[in-house]
Amino acid sequence: MSDPRILILGAPGAGKGTQSKRLCEAYGIEHITTGDALRANKQMETEYGTPAEYMDAGELVPDPLVNEIVAAALEDADGFVLDGYPRNESQVEYLEDATELDVVLYLDVSEEELVRRLTGRRVCPDCGASYHVEFNAPEETGVCDECGAELVQRDDDTEETVRERLKTYEENTEDVIEHYRSTDEFVEVDGEQTPDEVWADVKAAVDSRTE
Ligand code: AP5
Repeated sequence: MSDPRILILGAPGAGKGTQSKRLCEAYGIEHITTGDALRANKQMETEYGTPAEYMDAGELVPDPLVNEIVAAALEDADGFVLDGYPRNESQVEYLEDATELDVVLYLDVSEEELVRRLTGRRVCPDCGASYHVEFNAPEETGVCDECGAELVQRDDDTEETVRERLKTYEENTEDVIEHYRSTDEFVEVDGEQTPDEVWADVKAAVDSRTE
């Protein structure tokens, strides 16, 4: 079997990044994440303005910019976990023309839990490690276990922007979930369990569809 091509879906804070990291380690595949790619180019001037203008308001960055990022990443990858894309119907169409998928994972988490997870998240600006002040705290408060850098809060993880992101998700991306729900590749996972429990379900779903 060739390397798995996995799409991971879920609301902001559902645990996509957390589980994607484990998928990449377990299957030796690439993590294609539009959020990280856009954060790395947040101040880039384009004909649509900078990505920062949209991201800090909790809105979607214009499709042509994001589609270009995904097309370039897919070209270089055999197996992958695609995280943060597609987020609307037009991105779904673009993706369906670009590649096929073996598994579509959907992490289901309630809104109250999403807000708790996002506002408590702290990330390492140097190595990208992600923590939570309550659920996954670093050994020393505010310091990255992996590289010792000072942890920061993402600009869009403040409560006000989190609410906007969840609204944007509801308006645009819930239709994407419904689109994939009727396909054979779709698997829904209870994302409110502990990270290890979620991982057990995620791994079982991928193994059963790729063996
Ligand atoms: P993006 O970076 O993709 O953010 P997101 O979808 O909002 O997802 P997050 O990374 O915030 O959450 P996650 O599900 O990965 O959660 P994590 O694992 O970290 O996008 C940011 C912005 O970029 C968008 O708003 C938009 O502007 C733009 N953008 C991106 N893609 C785009 C696109 N395709 N089109 C247009 N614009 C686009 O977990 C969260 C926290 O919970 C962590 O602290 C973690 O430790 C904790 N946690 C995880 N799992 C558990 C668990 N099981 N139990 C308890 N705590 C847990």
